[in-house]
This record gives sequence, structure tokens and C-alpha cells, in this order.
Amino acid sequence: MGEKMVKVGVIGYGYWGPNLVRNFMFNPDTNVVCVCDKSTDRLLKAGELYPTVKLTGDASELISDSSIDAVVIATPVRSHFELSMAALKAGKHVFVEKPITTTSDQALQIIEEADRRQLTLIVDHTFVYTGAVRRMRELIKKPSFGNPSYFDSTRINLGLFQNDVNVLWDLAVHDLSIMSYVFDAKPVAVSATGHNHVEGQPENVAFLTVFFDCNLVAHINVSWLSPVKVRKTLIGGTKQMIVYDDLETSEKLKVYDKGITVSDDPDHIHKLLIGYRTGDLWSPRTNDTEALKIEVSHFVNCINGLEKPITGGEEGLGIVRILEAANSSMHRRGAPIDL
Ligand SMILES: NC(=O)c1ccc[n+]([C@@H]2O[C@H](COP(=O)([O-])OP(=O)(O)OC[C@H]3O[C@@H](n4cnc5c(N)ncnc54)[C@H](O)[C@@H]3O)[C@@H](O)[C@H]2O)c1
Repeated sequence: MGEKMVKVGVIGYGYWGPNLVRNFMFNPDTNVVCVCDKSTDRLLKAGELYPTVKLTGDASELISDSSIDAVVIATPVRSHFELSMAALKAGKHVFVEKPITTTSDQALQIIEEADRRQLTLIVDHTFVYTGAVRRMRELIKKPSFGNPSYFDSTRINLGLFQNDVNVLWDLAVHDLSIMSYVFDAKPVAVSATGHNHVEGQPENVAFLTVFFDCNLVAHINVSWLSPVKVRKTLIGGTKQMIVYDDLETSEKLKVYDKGITVSDDPDHIHKLLIGYRTGDLWSPRTNDTEALKIEVSHFVNCINGLEKPITGGEEGLGIVRILEAANSSMHRRGAPIDL
């Protein structure tokens, strides 16, 4: 507070853009002054809801508008690099949709440009700003969780087929951003398989395994071709296990005080004895504030030098590196690729 209002221009008013416009419009420290979309229909929709906002079909007009401090980019992934770069070069802070770019080389260029100009760059890894994921991180960091053992996520539905990126780049990016936020472990290799069921189109079903520099392993199953919608993650620790179901309206997290004990009795040296431990099951409270509301405030605080981006360029780059390796692995039928 006390800082000047951040004037925002939003490029892309398709499926996700309206959520961004709404959150930037209602935050007391930000104001949307311009919305840009190539589609006149989409612009008319924006104009109906926000009659005072300037509308344009030309992104360069928005980017060169001297009244704008920050540019929000919610266009398809292939255009993220060009638009982010142009906005940074025009001296604007950038809030770009996930994934940051289509290559790690492009992500590096954007990070460098933002650093050089001391501009804020945030990648919209939305789940990191949800109450459930934040609470999960707290629980995992506690000694009562033990050491992380596995992360097993299913994110499937009869989804919107994208034509510029495969299903890993569209959906697994959420799981990868959650993983990178809740664990300190470093990913070291990946193995992925994927299949397309529409000729000439990107893979619409994929299975990704991520190996870490410790005894943690992650598996992510994503699909646009499932009859049912599932958003469920199991996170195992040596002392507790968490089930995170994002489709639950309340009780998104359940913590199981369950695990195994391995006998080190020398009499049983040739016969490993696994004991099972079953304790309480509880559902921690989670904050249900809309993630984008928290993220927009965080973006403003970063611009004002009060906070450092939680999901900045480096986090975006880390995920693109995993996705690039996953693509290489997929083309070699799951051969492991070092990161
Ligand atoms: N964070 C999330 O949870 C989340 C959810 C959905 C989508 N997304 C991301 O948001 C982005 C957009 O996805 P979407 O589903 O809204 O796509 P969409 O196709 O529904 O909307 C994109 C809009 O951008 C417009 N557009 C494209 N290129 C443009 C350009 N150069 N200048 C001006 N307008 C342009 C299109 O006309 C369209 O209206 C993607 O990066 C996607 O990964 C994020």
C-alpha cells in the first residue's frame, strides 16, 4: 500500500485470460487499462464486461502504450517468447502463462532480459498459489512427514486438445511446478512415453517419470482422452502419506499416519520383515482464497521490491528443461534422459 497503482495490459482473452483480467481488475493495487486479442469476438466479450477498458487486436499497440506498467500474457504457448521479450524490451514487468516458453534457450533469454532491466518476471504456475499446495509444502517440510519417497499424480479428463504443445506441456507442467515447490530435491533424469491418437497432432496421453538426487521418485500420468476427470496426487513420506484431491471442494488434503517398518533382526537376515504401521487419518484445513488473487498481490509486491518471485523465470526454466528432456525420451520410447 502507498505504492502507485500498477497499470496492466492483458494479451489473450480466450479461456484463461478472463480469469486474469478479473483478478487484475479487482485487486486494489492494479488496474487493467487495455485488453488485446486477435479475435474481435473475444474483444467484444471483454468490452461487455469492462466498458472502460481499451480494446485492441494488435499486441504491439498494447506493448508500446506508455501508460502501461505490466503486461500479462495469456496467449498460446508458441507466442509467449516473442510477446514476453517485446514487453520486457519496452520496459514492462511481465506475468506470463505457463509454460514460460517452448524452449529452455528462449527462457534463458527472457530471464536475462528481465534481470538486465530489473523488471519483474512471473510465470503463472497457478497451483503454487493454492491453499492446498501451500499447506502440503508445510506438512512435507515437517519432521513428522519423514523423508519424501514418492509423488504420484494423475491429471486426466476429456480435455481440450491443444495443437501447439503436447499433453505434458499443457498438463504435467502443473504437477512439475507443484513438485518443484514442495520438495527441495533436485531432479536428475526423466523417462517418458506418450502417444497421439489423432494423426499429425501432439501426444494426448503421456506417462512421465522423474528421478531425483535422493530416494524420491515421481510419476505423472496426464491425458486429454479420459472419460472421467481425475486430479489426484499421492505423496509418500517415510512417516506419513498425503492424498491431495483437487476435485474435492473441502478436505482436498488427507494425511495418513501410515507407513512401514523394516526389521533389522539378525535372525531374519534372509527373510526381510516388513511391518505395517497404521495411525490416524486427518484432513488439514486449507485456505480457499482463489490462487490468482494471491498471485496478483505477490506480483505487485515483487514489482515494489517487497518480495521475490516464487514462480519466476528460473522456476519456469527448470520446468521447461524437464519437459524438453521428456520430449526427447518420448521420441526414444522412454529411454532415460539426464537433466
Ligand atoms: N494457469 C492455468 O491454470 C492455465 C489454464 C489454462 C490455460 N493456461 C495457459 O494460458 C494460455 C492460453 O490458454 P487458453 O486455454 O486461454 O487458450 P485460448 O486459445 O482459449 O486463448 C488464447 C487467446 O489468445 C488470442 N491470441 C493468440 N495469439 C495472439 C496474439 N499474438 N495477440 C493477441 N491475441 C492472441 C486468441 O485469439 C485467443 O482468444 C496458455 O499458455 C495456457 O497454457 C493456463
